[in-house]
Amino acid sequence: MRQHVNPLSRFFQLPLALPEPYELFDHPNLPIHLDIGCARGFFLLELAALQPGRNHLGVEIRRSLVQAAQRDRNRYQQNNLHFLFCNANISLEDWMAALPPDQLHLVTIQFPDPWFKQRHRKRRVLQPDLLLAIASALNPGRQLFLQSDVLAVIEPMVSLVELSSCFVRPQQDHRPWRADNPLPVATERERYVQEQGQPTYRVLFERNHNVLPPLKDLEMAWHPVDNSKDAALTSHG
Ligand SMILES: C[S@@+](CC[C@H](N)C(=O)[O-])C[C@H]1O[C@@H](n2cnc3c(N)ncnc32)[C@H](O)[C@@H]1O
Repeated sequence: MRQHVNPLSRFFQLPLALPEPYELFDHPNLPIHLDIGCARGFFLLELAALQPGRNHLGVEIRRSLVQAAQRDRNRYQQNNLHFLFCNANISLEDWMAALPPDQLHLVTIQFPDPWFKQRHRKRRVLQPDLLLAIASALNPGRQLFLQSDVLAVIEPMVSLVELSSCFVRPQQDHRPWRADNPLPVATERERYVQEQGQPTYRVLFERNHNVLPPLKDLEMAWHPVDNSKDAALTSHG
């Protein structure tokens, strides 16, 4: 298995000024879908072709994957799609904060790296500051979609979102996990998991009208969840 990139290493702490929508897309005013941890980009390459009415941005910490995905995007002239190299935890907050109001319609975090060891949990991508940055950029009704094949990874993510009080789940959605994928394309990891006959755990959240909690309060509330030994024990990976 490939080694994960450690997002906390010094090299990845350098904030990158990500280009604004007009530099990324031919029609920069379209609603944006942001996919965090897009890997080689096959999911977005297919989805962007199916959804020309949206711009799709994939961000990824492994530069070589971004370069290959961006080459495909150029070859197929998919002008509603762009891939950027960055550490989502360092560079996305400012980019999202600078977007025009209500331009970001959907954020997806799919099969994030699990980082099972307790001392590595801070390397997981969905941390309180990133969640608040996402919540701040989404207007009420706009969506955050999470999926994973690892209960020990998705459960703390769901707890974090719920502790923020900034999101609700659609009434009709099955609990604890959605019955199906709301997106018409499966990711690379999702296809692999399906082929293995393993379950995938999915949650769709919608931004509500609540004001963001202070970051410190959310961090304190999440600390016991993030440090719970149970999460490590329920690992399926
Ligand atoms: C397990 S892969 C899943 C890829 C894809 N979403 C899928 O479902 O097939 C997780 C991806 O997230 C990327 N990643 C991890 N931490 C990241 C970070 N802080 N910023 C951007 N990408 C990150 C990893 O390099 C990896 O490509």
